[in-house]
Amino acid sequence: MAKLVNLLLLVLLGVYSTVDGHFQWTEFHCLYSSEDLHDMEFIEKLIYNKLMDLQYNSTLGKFIGYTEQGVRHAERWNKDTADLASRKAQAETLCKYNTKLNQDLIFSETVEPQVKVHSVKHSDGSHPAMLMCSAYSFYPKLIKVTWMRNGQVIKGGVTSTEEMADGDWYYQVHSHLEYKPESGEEISCVVEHASFKKPMSFKWDPSMSEPDKSKIAIGASGLVLGLVLSAAGFIYYRKKCSGRILVPT
Ligand SMILES: *[C@@H]1O[C@H](CO)[C@@H](O)[C@H](O)[C@H]1NC(C)=O
Repeated sequence: MAKLVNLLLLVLLGVYSTVDGHFQWTEFHCLYSSEDLHDMEFIEKLIYNKLMDLQYNSTLGKFIGYTEQGVRHAERWNKDTADLASRKAQAETLCKYNTKLNQDLIFSETVEPQVKVHSVKHSDGSHPAMLMCSAYSFYPKLIKVTWMRNGQVIKGGVTSTEEMADGDWYYQVHSHLEYKPESGEEISCVVEHASFKKPMSFKWDPSMSEPDKSKIAIGASGLVLGLVLSAAGFIYYRKKCSGRILVPT
């Protein structure tokens, strides 16, 4: 969530006017990088013929000129203490107020993770097996992934990645479980997230892991294709042979 607000820049309003081919543009920015908005900064930029003449900065509490006429204006306007005070108040009234409204909308949003449990490594007797539980495309970031064996939380052999940002507001996380398989056990991955009303359990089905399934499918298709081709070859061969017999020489 912190990353999300880092870059949030709210341009509240742009005002422009043209007079005799001259162009004036005013921009109002609300800048902040904290979730509680304590570092809110109000910036007003005055741009004339594409050049920024001066800008008001609420952190400094005054105007700064960047061009000759900008410096002149800044000097004059910085003497008007009442105006400066009202501009400084905009950081509260305009920026914080509107950003708070936006945040309430954004942060109340939740998106359910897509959870997959699959086998990474099969046990070969001496080495333990490894399962991976992946949660994809969830929001917000906060999530808890645990493993259960026959209804008991598994403490050892669990490693998890950090919650990784996908860059599109969604996150993903992966948890690995190293364990010694026992017959008749039931292993599941339990995910707790704001989008779920209660912790959700995703059972590991050892009878058919995904790679096995696709291997069997590829093998079966190969077998069917082979049978069809050899049958076709056999029929063709029989036809050719019988054709020869039919035509006497
Ligand atoms: C406003 O002034 C503060 C204090 O000098 C500075 O840190 C900040 O970068 C300025 N903001 C902008 C947008 O220039």
